[in-house]
Amino acid sequence: MRVLIGPDASRQARPTVDTDEELAELYAAPADPWLRVNMVSTVDGSATGDSGRSGSINNAADKRVFDTLRRWADVIVVGAGTARAEGYGLARSPIVLVSRRAEVPEKLRGAEPGQVLMATCAHAEHLDEARELLGPDHVLVLGSHRVDLAELRARLVDKGWTHILSEGGPHLLHDLVAQEVADELTCTFVPRLVAGTHPRITDGPGLDVPLTLHSLLEEDGTLLGRWLL
Ligand SMILES: NC(=O)c1ccc[n+]([C@@H]2O[C@H](COP(=O)([O-])OP(=O)(O)OC[C@H]3O[C@@H](n4cnc5c(N)ncnc54)[C@H](OP(=O)(O)O)[C@@H]3O)[C@@H](O)[C@H]2O)c1
Repeated sequence: MRVLIGPDASRQARPTVDTDEELAELYAAPADPWLRVNMVSTVDGSATGDSGRSGSINNAADKRVFDTLRRWADVIVVGAGTARAEGYGLARSPIVLVSRRAEVPEKLRGAEPGQVLMATCAHAEHLDEARELLGPDHVLVLGSHRVDLAELRARLVDKGWTHILSEGGPHLLHDLVAQEVADELTCTFVPRLVAGTHPRITDGPGLDVPLTLHSLLEEDGTLLGRWLL
């Protein structure tokens, strides 16, 4: 991958990142704890392709960064809508589902206790069922009608999970930004246009949050950026 913009002068001197180790170094977090959100978008701003999932727009370069970030992560935080749409299964790191309803998706049932957690609200429709499926210690009630995401971050850090990776989706990204919980957005722009009616990488009420570009890579026309919030 070509380094178009590096995070500091020494990185600008290195024109490419070739090995997985170099890529991991380029994606190192500048502080600990750190919460980053990883997303992918087409150039016309679509977060999904014709399958209705991000799998129909991502590509090999995006997958490489996706895998690098998963290796970095102590824990993965994902909106229940994304877990349902993308058919999330287990990962190397524990997965925290964020949901108002607390319904555990089929493929995330029956895991070892602690591999799947639920962050939800006191009034969640499926709260008792989630406690039964995941174990009561793994269901975090963090608010009455909405999940307090700052509290979620603090609870994950208390568990020693300081490298926090969120994989979206658009509503969760919105709320992480609105509640000033995210430190970084990593986003891949794939060189495609899809038109149609698709979500963008953020959804929900209007926001206006400035971002600071940290670094930008390129491979075969795909742009892979890191922005700090
Ligand atoms: N391009 C990308 O990088 C990318 C990444 C991820 C997902 N996607 C795509 O985005 C689409 C899904 O969009 P989405 O907006 O529905 O995703 P989402 O944000 O993952 O899911 C929304 C749902 O997650 C729960 N949720 C999110 N934020 C919450 C909060 N602050 N508090 C409590 N619950 C919260 C709620 O679940 P309950 O309904 O269970 O209460 C809500 O209905 C899919 O098509 C997926 O493929 C794309």
